[in-house]
Amino acid sequence: MLGEEQQRGRQILALARAASGEVDNNLSVDARAAFCLSLLDGVPHTGRIGLFTSSIEPLAVEERHYWTGVFYTLLLSAETRRTQATYFTPPYLANAVLDLAIGAGFNLAQHDVLDPAAGGAAFLSTIAARMQQAGLEADDIVYRLNGIEIDPGLAAISRSLIQRRLGETVAREMIVTADALRVKPLAAYNLVVANPPYGRLHVDELPDDNWKAIAHSGHINKYAVFTEYCFRMAKPNALLALVIPSSFRAGPLYDRMRSYIRSNGQVVALGSVDGRKDVFVDVAQDVSVLLVRKGASHKTSVPVSFPVLGLGEIEEPQRRRLPADATRPWPTPAPDGEVLGGATLADYGITVRAGYFVWNREQHRMAEEGDPNAYPLMWAKNVKAGKLCRPAAKKGTGIDFVTVDPTSSAIVRGPAIVMQRTTNTKQPRRLICSRVAPAVSKKWNGFITENHTIILTGADPARLKLVEALLNTAAVDARYRRVSGTASISVTLLRELDLPLPNAFAEAMASHGDDAEIAAVAAYGSGAKTRTTEHA
Ligand SMILES: C[S@@+](CC[C@H](N)C(=O)[O-])C[C@H]1O[C@@H](n2cnc3c(N)ncnc32)[C@H](O)[C@@H]1O
Repeated sequence: MLGEEQQRGRQILALARAASGEVDNNLSVDARAAFCLSLLDGVPHTGRIGLFTSSIEPLAVEERHYWTGVFYTLLLSAETRRTQATYFTPPYLANAVLDLAIGAGFNLAQHDVLDPAAGGAAFLSTIAARMQQAGLEADDIVYRLNGIEIDPGLAAISRSLIQRRLGETVAREMIVTADALRVKPLAAYNLVVANPPYGRLHVDELPDDNWKAIAHSGHINKYAVFTEYCFRMAKPNALLALVIPSSFRAGPLYDRMRSYIRSNGQVVALGSVDGRKDVFVDVAQDVSVLLVRKGASHKTSVPVSFPVLGLGEIEEPQRRRLPADATRPWPTPAPDGEVLGGATLADYGITVRAGYFVWNREQHRMAEEGDPNAYPLMWAKNVKAGKLCRPAAKKGTGIDFVTVDPTSSAIVRGPAIVMQRTTNTKQPRRLICSRVAPAVSKKWNGFITENHTIILTGADPARLKLVEALLNTAAVDARYRRVSGTASISVTLLRELDLPLPNAFAEAMASHGDDAEIAAVAAYGSGAKTRTTEHA
């Protein structure tokens, strides 16, 4: 069920989208920014724009400002929105991030701030308002707020929104229009706060080699590059407060980022953001809030706070140590006292690997049934939890076949489970798997799976059936979600996932009439070790 706030947000977004279609496409950037700002001025509008302005009129000032920025982004092309990642931090989250920073020592009366991807000034205007509430003069405030924004229209909107929050026109250009990664740094700051852009980058797109400290050459994400940049812009002992995709917490290719962060400061808090679909307009990915104090490397003995930041009340956060190994994932802690199952898939005799066939690179290998060395291809969409998995064509009817050397290890011949490797964010479960119908291998002497699947094999069909039931339960899904922040399933994390002991689960299935959901909870509960202060 959607909360009232979420529903209202969706309605306003729908109105904003409809209204954006009525704005003249040929406006210059300045005129477009000015038009968006004029929506705050109470000028009556007709049509869809009127509907949108009346929907935001009764809102609190920070909400109105947020929607003004969002409205501007709806006037950009979808391509620009995606490459610049113009998805703004909603006010509740900007406030929660600021509260975390203040709790960790950010001093509104003394410190200065940089947001190198300022967007619609979500952070800077919130800080301006808080500084003003703390009794500071506008002149003082504007000298301590600094932003960089690549989009000139957004930079203009940001400047204006901050002035409106302060109720004064100020002379200082607080927001510079520039590419943060290419502009010469002017100073270092007490707080660097950002919801940076993200998306894959190629080495050639980067102005220097600084990314090498934080990313692998074949896997450079903009948000990792910005994180490294934010560390450089921070004074010694300064705080960094970053709203970034959760993929860095567990992704095997983000090991360098995790160790970079730990080598350059003390991780103070790692917040999860509730309700991923409604955090950013148009974006359905998990985000985390990372708070770090720049300085000596992270002391593992000092616990990190793991708050859950949502629209409702923020509960007392759990505190846990990060794993001793700097490259290990940073999972969300399990509830206090949760029992460790104590087993992994290997204890069930299961081997896990990624699907083999990359369709768009190897189309020439597509074949017909009966062709020499042709094996049926299992697509991710053939996997439906609770049903036996059988090959079915990607398009139309029939079955797709692929030619593979019959000695290739890519051919699966024995009992197997296929799991979807990338789950749609709308799907309620991350782990979705199904057992391959035994008739498949019998009929074609094996099959091939595509690379959007994960293949789990084991010699014992009874064990495999047990594992299929277990992996499709909510209890296992919840544990997987805590270690991984993304919709794509990691083979490594799956191999390491904590499961109940095989005998405990088999017995629980027998005594609960094969109800896997109840059996999984019961079998985890029979484990001997509880989590307390440190992750497994
Ligand atoms: C995810 S949005 C966040 C904006 C804002 N700080 C917020 O939290 O709502 C990222 C912003 O960074 C801007 N941006 C993208 N690439 C940039 C770059 N290289 N330098 C500066 N700003 C950039 C985008 O235009 C966008 O406004």
